[in-house]
Amino acid sequence: MVAQRPLALVTGSSSGIGRAYAEALAACGYDLLLVARRRDRLEALAKATTKACGISAEVLVTDLSDPQGLRRVEKRIDGEERLTMLVNNAGIGGIKPFLEMDPAYIQKMIAVNVTAVTLLTYAALPGMLWHGGGTIVNVASGLAYNRIPGVAVYAATKAFVIQFTRILHDEYGSQGIRFQALLPGLTRTELGVGQQPRDLMERIPADQIGTPENAAKASLAGLELGELMCIPGLAHPEEFVRADEAVQEALRKVTAEVAARYHARD
Ligand SMILES: NC(=O)c1ccc[n+]([C@@H]2O[C@H](COP(=O)([O-])OP(=O)(O)OC[C@H]3O[C@@H](n4cnc5c(N)ncnc54)[C@H](OP(=O)(O)O)[C@@H]3O)[C@@H](O)[C@H]2O)c1
Repeated sequence: MVAQRPLALVTGSSSGIGRAYAEALAACGYDLLLVARRRDRLEALAKATTKACGISAEVLVTDLSDPQGLRRVEKRIDGEERLTMLVNNAGIGGIKPFLEMDPAYIQKMIAVNVTAVTLLTYAALPGMLWHGGGTIVNVASGLAYNRIPGVAVYAATKAFVIQFTRILHDEYGSQGIRFQALLPGLTRTELGVGQQPRDLMERIPADQIGTPENAAKASLAGLELGELMCIPGLAHPEEFVRADEAVQEALRKVTAEVAARYHARD
């Protein structure tokens, strides 16, 4: 009997980091389920990876901000035994003061960056647990920690992704599921084309902007290293871990008593 190849679902694989993940996973022998809105890009990628790597690639054109579009992907992976890798990569950004944002765009950003990540994980995880293994990579951003004006909603969606990933690791990591949050750092992609981030990209020296290929490659290498948080450009991840532990340590000192400074006006 011919062994079946594992299947990787990569959202937002029509460009940037998602496309780089798809290419890298195809080179590792994964069949691909490619999800995004631009059919032409996905079909070209499917054709190229099929030819280069001898895998098979399926295109699922959908808008993840549309509940019905998201549902189509959830249905497609329901009971899909070969799904061992989910890369929740699709995301939208933009730099604008909060009150200048279009509320419809805010909703869309939350739908793609938060709701789709959450519900696709919800759809994929039971099968992975059933088969005793799987990998879920969620693409976050260092902006979750930076306080740059103009990214309140985007940064908050990415903070969600980080905390979501870390707690799922605590809940299911011991049951054979690998989790990772990727914080790619500034990467030359199509993110925010036609919006302010392009201006940002253009203002930053080219050598300070990473490539999508390196981000995807570091993420996959980070999985092998067992990294829950992958920050490709960070030479000393232990510094990050220590900073995080310091926050946990401070929070452990919280008591049921209201701190003295709040009684100052009593
Ligand atoms: N570039 C950076 O500097 C950077 C830094 C930190 C984090 N990130 C994160 O990296 C991830 C990938 O972004 P990227 O930088 O590679 O940007 P990108 O080139 O713009 O790729 C974004 C991908 O998401 C897909 N997408 C967007 N809206 C969608 C929707 N409604 N439904 C389905 N797919 C949708 C896009 O495909 P279609 O347009 O074809 O639908 C595209 O394939 C995002 O989560 C982003 O937040 C990027």
